[in-house]
Amino acid sequence: MGDHHRTEVSNVLIIGMGCAGLRAAIAANMAGCEVTIIGKRPWKDAHTVLAAGGINAALGTVDPQDSWQQHFADTLKEGYFLGIPRMVEIMAKEAPAAVLELADWGCPFSRTPDGRLDQRFFGAHKYRRTCYAGDYTGRAVLDTLADKVSQLHIASNDTQYVSQLLVHDGVCFGALAFDLYTGERTVYGADAVVLATGGGTRLWRRSSSRRDENTGDGMYLALRAGCTLGSMELVQFHPTGMVWPEETAGALVTEAVRGEGGRLYNSDHERFMERYDPERLELSTRDCVALANYTEIMAGRGGPHNGVFLDISHRDKDYILEKLPRTYRQFMETELLDISRQPMEVAPTAHYTMGGVMVDAETHATAVTGLYAVGEVTNGLHGANRLGGNSLAETVVFGRRAGEDAAKYSRACETHVRSKATVDAAFDDLDSLLHKGDEMARPLQRSLRDTLWECAGVVRNQQRMEQGLEKVADLTDSMPRLDVRPSAEGYQDLAHALDLRASLLVAQATLLSAIERRESRGAHQRSDYPEQDPDLKVNFTISLENGELVMSRVPVPEMPEHLKEWETMGTDVEPVEGRLLE
Ligand code: FUM
Repeated sequence: MGDHHRTEVSNVLIIGMGCAGLRAAIAANMAGCEVTIIGKRPWKDAHTVLAAGGINAALGTVDPQDSWQQHFADTLKEGYFLGIPRMVEIMAKEAPAAVLELADWGCPFSRTPDGRLDQRFFGAHKYRRTCYAGDYTGRAVLDTLADKVSQLHIASNDTQYVSQLLVHDGVCFGALAFDLYTGERTVYGADAVVLATGGGTRLWRRSSSRRDENTGDGMYLALRAGCTLGSMELVQFHPTGMVWPEETAGALVTEAVRGEGGRLYNSDHERFMERYDPERLELSTRDCVALANYTEIMAGRGGPHNGVFLDISHRDKDYILEKLPRTYRQFMETELLDISRQPMEVAPTAHYTMGGVMVDAETHATAVTGLYAVGEVTNGLHGANRLGGNSLAETVVFGRRAGEDAAKYSRACETHVRSKATVDAAFDDLDSLLHKGDEMARPLQRSLRDTLWECAGVVRNQQRMEQGLEKVADLTDSMPRLDVRPSAEGYQDLAHALDLRASLLVAQATLLSAIERRESRGAHQRSDYPEQDPDLKVNFTISLENGELVMSRVPVPEMPEHLKEWETMGTDVEPVEGRLLE
């Protein structure tokens, strides 16, 4: 690549082009800053487009009894009280305004006949509070934010792979990136950097993420920059992913199917959720439904492709096409299956990393000065089991807060930090990966994905996780033998090598934390520790010290006095009209 490189300077640099990054960019721009957004996925095609079913906000449109306090209570309780109360409070309080703002900006949310935003049921919510645009809500929100970014003339570049955050004396002053097609390197200098790079669920064999997204790269960048990660063992398995054809296995089948009345059956035609959660049935918590599906499949009551059956065929075809248009097309195009006539075969799929970078609840500032993190890359909101629809709410609520605080921090900066030694070291790091070798990144990535699926899947145990750690160590030993060189397609090999390097460290962090959590809680289910341990109401944290991952534990912050009464507010099922309990 040579020594030639470009330099670009702005007040606030946003890394990541999903909803969290774009909302942060808009906030920083509106606060008067010059903002640059960079990312590695095509514009308007960040992972957010796969967030299908909705965005939560206690608007009380359909169920006027709803309140932000009940949203707070549902989120905290269903997260098994590992969520950070203040963060949950902010999300629940501010989501309504954030959603109404999106609607004002033109987001095509579905509406009630009288023109208000419609709300649907999602699992484990006491009331209907999930606003939606058919079953393509993430795409609708992302398009809305992208259009706003364009109106504001915010600079963006969607071919940039960030290899390193630039940090000097504990202060982040930008990032080094290279162009995925030309290899050209750019030093992006900035007063403040917002990391909005998504999570790490592509590390599992079955995943609702696409290739080359959610590889854990943001968590890796943060770790190396000096941040601490928390709750890395807490990974949500969505109950319903596709199971075949093989190339689509893991793809999300939205919870909205169950929200609109879809029922789960095993191969004995039994509506098995009656045994696992007779009150909430298919609208039970995600961890419960995922474990139920997994258990049925492992007990041999699955279908021909090792899935259970999700059936919405009792609904009218017009209704399905109105509420679930994308799901209808998804099955018609991949399986030639008409879901208004036949059930879908589905199984759990890795869907969301609830752990991630430790951030301040108010601003999402990290422990590194000038560095912020927002969205799935962070830890703190979801506890041990995320409520569907809360992740889109998180992106817009905390995207705005992080962008505003980054702008405030930038305005207060007296001098711009620079360090030639740091930049040189980042260049050397990239150079060190470019060499010939006898291993390719893709097969090693595949092997890592198989390892996590087998050793840290829906149900875990100590022995398998230790085997997983050994396998991760073997794969890490292969890194120096990678063959990494430019090709006709550009610098994809280098991106894959960096993704792999990141994924391996994040996998190690995940396994170490999962071994340490010797209990079953929410999405973290252990066959050797099947009970919840009240002493483990803690967050396991992990940081990098002299190249080694070091673990510790921190207590979950105390519940603020004014929220104590809501802590115990149940999500017991009430006979709300429209809830599909029969
Ligand atoms: O099932 C879904 O539509 C997913 C939504 C979410 O994870 O928030």
